[in-house]
Amino acid sequence: MVKIAEKLIKGLAVFTFDDLIILPGYSKVEPSQISLKTRFSTNIELNVPFVSSPMDTVTESDMAITLARYGGIGVIHRNCTIEEQVEMVKKVKRSESFIIRDVITVKPNITVGEAANYMKLYNISGLPVIDDENKLIGIITGRDVRFANPNILVSDAMTKDVIVAEEKITPEEAINLMKRYKIEKLPVVDKNNKLVGLITYKDVALRDKYPNAIRDDDGRLVVAAAISPFDIKRAKMLEKYVDALVIDVAHFHNENVMQATKKLIKEVNVDIIVGNLGTKEGVTDVLSKIERINGLRVGIGGGSVCTTSQITRTGAPTPFAVAQAKEALEELGADIPIIADGGIKGAGDIALVLALGASSAMMGYVFAACKESPSPITMIGNRYYKLHRGMGSIGARQKRMALDRYSQPSKSIPEGMEVWIPYKGEASAVIEELSAALKVAMGYAGASNIKEMFEKAQIGWASQNVYSKTHYEEIIKPT
Ligand code: XMP
Repeated sequence: MVKIAEKLIKGLAVFTFDDLIILPGYSKVEPSQISLKTRFSTNIELNVPFVSSPMDTVTESDMAITLARYGGIGVIHRNCTIEEQVEMVKKVKRSESFIIRDVITVKPNITVGEAANYMKLYNISGLPVIDDENKLIGIITGRDVRFANPNILVSDAMTKDVIVAEEKITPEEAINLMKRYKIEKLPVVDKNNKLVGLITYKDVALRDKYPNAIRDDDGRLVVAAAISPFDIKRAKMLEKYVDALVIDVAHFHNENVMQATKKLIKEVNVDIIVGNLGTKEGVTDVLSKIERINGLRVGIGGGSVCTTSQITRTGAPTPFAVAQAKEALEELGADIPIIADGGIKGAGDIALVLALGASSAMMGYVFAACKESPSPITMIGNRYYKLHRGMGSIGARQKRMALDRYSQPSKSIPEGMEVWIPYKGEASAVIEELSAALKVAMGYAGASNIKEMFEKAQIGWASQNVYSKTHYEEIIKPT
């Protein structure tokens, strides 16, 4: 007979946000001296520890662009077709770049009118002119076509003396060159004068505008995308454009999921984040069975729109899951960033998960409320609200693409709900506010960076009187 005492794990307290509090510690730092630099995965660094959830009311291109511009990263949801998801990722990648590689060019023997049509079609203001060997022979710009007869050839209207750059040019050198010659397009050529790229003033100027942005080697914004471990086709299509793939299942410590992930990892060559995980045992087991994991997404059933814990009485609240994962990593001597996911409502919650060992915080609720989220906005009373829904909610499941996360045929119970949350405006302002408040929290703990937040912050148990008010009280449920 199994004894109940054997089932209960001795000394194991399962806690959530309101059970803990960070204690003020000796501090030498002022908030302005604090760095929020961190890692999303083993190869992706962030300037702020904020990640937007792969949910269809949270992260599509606009949200991912803002997150990356302000130092974080967005994970594009997968509740859509492969083509739609790839297009969203491409939109992020196209939004900015240093050297554009897929340059739209023209041949010298087309007419100026045709060149003008290309400019209109692609919404661009200048086209490099190349010969049959891809050698640069000129450039034709909006200025050239505006005053020229549309029937003459491009070769007669183009600028032939083109200012060019070599591939090794830095953004600062490119800006200086463009300013000196008052030009907006700088073709990049190899030593044989073959066109290999194009730098535009608009793109390099954006680098000044967003100094905190996280960019890849080509100067494009970083972006991640969610996938099912069983969808190798999707993973391979996305791999060409994304910086990381996030295996997006509710319960990763599952044999089928782990076997499928093992196969998938062999097929792709970008950072792989796995999750969600909730226990030390789960993390240890996963790391012993799967090689090349670049990040761990942890927290089960604790999200603002999750009903998993209420329905099933199972779960691993996010702060607990972070502590468990960190313990596993420390014992294994593994250095893999932990992404805390679910139930994070603001900077204090972020401070807490960082103090427990997370490297970044993934948020659905916080970002669903912002302008850039794809969810509908509505006025209720005299306030604006945005819709936020769990990916296991009836509405999301009706889209029938989140099939293997929360709505496998065997799982016919919805594990998420739909709520209206107060509109908060632009995500950039939310990120700035979170950053400022997080720095204050870190200052109290005496931490000058995120690593120190884990090393130095002391955490105490909070009695039920410590936090008397919940932040979700303004939610309005649709009738
Ligand atoms: P927040 O609290 O930031 O949580 O909105 C976002 C995270 O919640 C998870 N998620 C779900 N969990 N049922 C669940 O049990 C659901 O329908 C559901 N939808 C999202 C997910 O991990 C997300 O990042």
